[in-house]
Amino acid sequence: MTSIVMEDVSKYFDGGQTIANYRLTLEVVDGEFLVFLGPSGCGKTTALRLIAGLEQPSEGVIYFDDERVDGRSPSSRNVAMVFQNYALYPHMTVAENIGYPLRVRGVPPDERDRKVEEVTTLLHIEDQVGKKPAALSGGQRQRVALARAIIREPSVFLLDEPLSNLDAKLRQEMRVELKRLQNELDITTVYVTHNQEEAMSMADRVVVMNRGTIQQVAPPQELYERPRTAWVARFIGSPPMNLFEGTRRNGSIDFGEAGAVELDDVLRVGDTVDDEGSTAAPGDGDTASVVTSDVQGEVALGVRPEDLTITTSRPTAGNVIEGRVDTVEPLGEYVLVNVTVNDQLVNAKLADGTVSRDERVYLTFDDDDAYLYDENGELVN
Ligand SMILES: Nc1ncnc2c1ncn2[C@@H]1O[C@H](COP(=O)(O)OP(=O)(O)OP(=O)(O)O)[C@@H](O)[C@H]1O
Ligand SMILES: [Mg+2]
Repeated sequence: MTSIVMEDVSKYFDGGQTIANYRLTLEVVDGEFLVFLGPSGCGKTTALRLIAGLEQPSEGVIYFDDERVDGRSPSSRNVAMVFQNYALYPHMTVAENIGYPLRVRGVPPDERDRKVEEVTTLLHIEDQVGKKPAALSGGQRQRVALARAIIREPSVFLLDEPLSNLDAKLRQEMRVELKRLQNELDITTVYVTHNQEEAMSMADRVVVMNRGTIQQVAPPQELYERPRTAWVARFIGSPPMNLFEGTRRNGSIDFGEAGAVELDDVLRVGDTVDDEGSTAAPGDGDTASVVTSDVQGEVALGVRPEDLTITTSRPTAGNVIEGRVDTVEPLGEYVLVNVTVNDQLVNAKLADGTVSRDERVYLTFDDDDAYLYDENGELVN
């Protein structure tokens, strides 16, 4: 069993011109399934290769449990790595492919066979052991690659987009399979993907990366419920959160021609809570001193499309932002409408009725569904 700690780990290439990873600090706890998620080029593979020992950090230290491993070779770390393009030996059978790492180590044939049977059963490929890789489907081949990786009983399992060569249905199946496998083996796993759904469905915790840095580390649900930065908010969710750009003046945000909203309830900082435990609303007689300091500046107000309701007549109360319909997408379960607010395009779900292109509409949302990001993109509330 192994935990992994990265402390201020940076990796530069091209004499410092390329910053692949910048000051990564992170702990992968024993038995955890941790996923690195981020767009192409953000440094996911490099981070994984640093853990594997295939790259050495330019700065910072890496521990496996209490032992410092940076500077050490991959073979001394007892890690198994599976890539997107796993290479199986074409002239060997499935059983020989899987047993190969044990053969190299000089494990006797009897024990080797026993272990091969064990892992092939675990991965449901026991019927394929006599075949050559060419006779297998993509999913079966990927299972062979996984079996070959786990037969050595590594203390850390590293996977770099292992499912991206498979079709959508198979990917889904393998996702469930991998998660089950990881649960059964209880092995510390770091998994790299740029596929959000994959990350959210498998991870105990997700590390969201952007341009070599860590944006947020959180369990999937928390990532969705509390995106710590505007960047994460824009990245997570499908479609992702809308961010309305406006100017904050103390307790309100001004969106110019699109209107203004009072955000006293959105800013939970300094909220007063009444006896029932609910937050006192402004103007309800209970003088909640919410936003008292003099604050001014450019902000972004985040509301998810599913929390934004469209009406064609102006609501008389609540948070209202005005816009114009751009396009209408009937998605079956609901109708998604693209609305132009000032110069920005936002997405909203249509509550009922119909809207047409260029029609003036009103977007409303509950205080509880609003997120406020300051001018640096940091979550305020
Ligand atoms: N060996 C190398 N030499 C020079 N630059 C490199 C090297 N390896 C990675 N990089 C650069 O480091 C950055 C991060 O690359 P990395 O492969 O870690 O990204 P990634 O998040 O895995 O991307 P993808 O999703 O496309 O696989 C990129 O700008 C890449 O060009
Ligand atoms: Mg990569």
